[in-house]
Amino acid sequence: GGRKSICSVATEPAPAQAEEPEMDAPKEVFLKDYKKPDYLFESVDLKFQLGEDKTIVSSNIAVYPREEGTSSPLVLNGSDLKLLSIKVDGKDLKMSEDYKLELRHLTLLSPPNGAFKLEIVTEIDPIRNTSLEGLYKSSGVFCTQCEAEGFRKITFYQDRPDVMAKYTCRIEANKEKYPVLLSNGNLIEQGDLEDGKHYSLWEDPHKKPCYLFALVAGQLESRDDSFVTCSGRKVALRIWTPAQDVPKTGHAMYSLKAAMKWDEEVFGLEYDLDLFNIVAVPDFNMGAMENKSLNIFNSKLVLASPETASDGDYASILGVIGHEYFHNWTGNRVTCRDWFQLSLKEGLTVFRDQEFSSDMGCRPVKRIADVSKLRNYQFPQDAGPMAHPVRPHSYIKMDNFYTVTVYEKGAEVVRMYKTLLGATGFRKGMDLYFQRHDGQAVTCEDFYAAMCDANGADLANFLQWYSQAGTPCVKVVSSYNAEAKTFSLKFSQEVPPTPGQPVKEPMFIPVAVGLLDSTGKDMPLSSLYSNGVLKTISSGEPVYTTVLHFNKKEEEFVFSNIPEKPVPSLLRGYSAPIRLDSDLTDADLFFLLAHDSDEFNRWEAGQLLSRKLMLSLVSDFQQQKPLALNPSFVDRIRSILSNTTLDKEFISKAITLPGEGEIMDMMPVADPDAVHAVRIFIRKELALQLKQELLAAVTNNRSSGPYVFDHENMARRALKNTALVYLATLNEPDVTQLVLSEYKSASNMTEQFAAMAALAQNPGQVCDEVLADFYNKWQHDYLVVNKWFALQAMSDAPGNVENVKKLLNHPAFDMRNPNKVYSLIGGFCGSPVNFHAKDGSGYKFLGEVVVQLDKINPQVFYLHL
Ligand code: ARG
Ligand code: ZN
Repeated sequence: GGRKSICSVATEPAPAQAEEPEMDAPKEVFLKDYKKPDYLFESVDLKFQLGEDKTIVSSNIAVYPREEGTSSPLVLNGSDLKLLSIKVDGKDLKMSEDYKLELRHLTLLSPPNGAFKLEIVTEIDPIRNTSLEGLYKSSGVFCTQCEAEGFRKITFYQDRPDVMAKYTCRIEANKEKYPVLLSNGNLIEQGDLEDGKHYSLWEDPHKKPCYLFALVAGQLESRDDSFVTCSGRKVALRIWTPAQDVPKTGHAMYSLKAAMKWDEEVFGLEYDLDLFNIVAVPDFNMGAMENKSLNIFNSKLVLASPETASDGDYASILGVIGHEYFHNWTGNRVTCRDWFQLSLKEGLTVFRDQEFSSDMGCRPVKRIADVSKLRNYQFPQDAGPMAHPVRPHSYIKMDNFYTVTVYEKGAEVVRMYKTLLGATGFRKGMDLYFQRHDGQAVTCEDFYAAMCDANGADLANFLQWYSQAGTPCVKVVSSYNAEAKTFSLKFSQEVPPTPGQPVKEPMFIPVAVGLLDSTGKDMPLSSLYSNGVLKTISSGEPVYTTVLHFNKKEEEFVFSNIPEKPVPSLLRGYSAPIRLDSDLTDADLFFLLAHDSDEFNRWEAGQLLSRKLMLSLVSDFQQQKPLALNPSFVDRIRSILSNTTLDKEFISKAITLPGEGEIMDMMPVADPDAVHAVRIFIRKELALQLKQELLAAVTNNRSSGPYVFDHENMARRALKNTALVYLATLNEPDVTQLVLSEYKSASNMTEQFAAMAALAQNPGQVCDEVLADFYNKWQHDYLVVNKWFALQAMSDAPGNVENVKKLLNHPAFDMRNPNKVYSLIGGFCGSPVNFHAKDGSGYKFLGEVVVQLDKINPQVFYLHL
């Protein structure tokens, strides 16, 4: 029969013929249940007819069975789709006889034996898609977001990353409204059609999973540049935005070219097409997406000018442009077998972007920033009800697993391979990984095997890092034997229970160690005794840092030929994502702070002293004792502040106290009010006693000349801004005048915003005036207005929840735009005092917002970026 199968909208209850109608709640999926697909896709030809009220998607898939003789049903995912027609080898299929349609699946009941052509036509409604997943419209521009499981909102497909196919994509749309039509790969044809329409045809020569598919159509203009790869391929680079924003894409282009060069130099990885496109859209759930040759970005991670973006924004753009570009090899050429393996690409790619930013800027400062982020956000996650392994064992909605654990802890896991195998060994492992798996969808074990095999290494129980949640706690006790001239470090470890994992095995923890002599110099390390084996560390060239392989519950390491009692520098460079509890005295810590050759550990020694101080003041506060600041603490900060040999950004980080999240995370029962009160008290006290030094830091570090994005200038601005924020805590007229004049004379956003933030610490008339002035100045720029929302949302003024509620009704606020939600709601929830208010007003507020948001866009969640 020639009748077309047209059936009901798939969001309605399943048709009566369906044997087991699907219930509304999605099922939990388990890693252990993974099965290879029965059918694979060779090629996919897509056609999009983009329209104002509906879009028609036609797909033509070359299907073949993975194993000959397969006759099992072919199950396709689909969600919010209207099925218009379905054909196999040119013949229309009959509903219930040939296929079954359920709420989220379309099943071909008895596909032909062998290869066949599957043609499906669906209708979708991008205009009313507020989930920002699948095909949707952002400010008049059609765009897509398919990771993790968004492709099923475009057409029926095996929406899983282990199905990789070659794609073509034809886009048809009104030429005037949508002059630019983009998809993955190369543009092979374009032309005009009837009724004011035009089309373009794209072909991507690389096999890819559907989550890397992308389409963009709209009124966009581009900044064009090019890059010549190491083998001489000339790549056209284009960054697309609305016309008025093109001037703000210079830094993004600089970042892209730097990333392309860096990946060639550091990993020998070259770009593999003649065209690379980036599109910036204002409505985007996450930071950005690595679609093959068509990266789509949240515009806050592309657009920057010195007047509107801060140093932090410039640094984020560099890092994220790098991140998405690096995915071309770690994620796209080699992808994930299933979503449980997400950290295979994300942990690795975060590690790569961290290294890129380090090489482009200042390594120790970048390391400090990354470790702070881990401690302030990932540690609490790993210690709470959301704790999950780097590779989760199950999920209900995959979107919930784009977490700081998968990303940042995952990056630490990759960093540990490098620590254990050395830079050369790590590179060998990467090379073997690409050699073995290019074009494949693989697992974390495959990465582990490549690292081990390339180095002939035995990394014992290292894989536990992927499956055990919780931050390991490591205790170390040291002792020196003057007679034997040996120095011993006794380690023990404990991995805390987490939901679903009450009992833990020991982990493989690389501990980088150096020993300082009494003058503060590194001692040469010659040999090490552990586990009944004497190991030579060095027989020729002196070695000053060695990596201990601590992988048992308890283990002792004994250094020999140690002529005097050393001060140990433990966990150099933060060589493992653990909590370290050592027996170092305050005197040892002061000594390390002054002398350690490992800059991370110099900073760390200061932080350890600050943490101890803060925790003891918190307990004083809780017992209603008067707070008093230890004079040696003030002296320590003074000496850092006036040390002209130190890097200025290092100083800025070293005089900054540990975050409130980090301190609360260390307490058996978090007390946000006490932690906040103590942090405020110390900051004011330091400002009072170090006023002269802080004033000098402001005057000596003013800008001269135009804004430059480089480490030296950013470091100078960071120090000046940190000093201003300290000074403003005094709330004294002379200081307020100073900060106000810094605000008025600032010629870049970094300094203008920091001055405003400094003033905003003291609610009152000046604060209100500056906030109003800032809004007037920047109301035309939504990215700057978001900073203004965030600053007010984060205020610790009592009862600030009321102000935030008022701002929800501000004309510039819009619940449908994720960036605005992250600024206002995220800003509020990220600042502990008001969010955790004892009267419950903060939680109540968030609860109300979540109910509202869930209907608009359930993926919007607070990202700690
Ligand atoms: N792969 C992207 C990145 O790390 C993140 C996209 C996640 N999208 C999502 N809807 N959860 O750069
Ligand atoms: Zn990523």
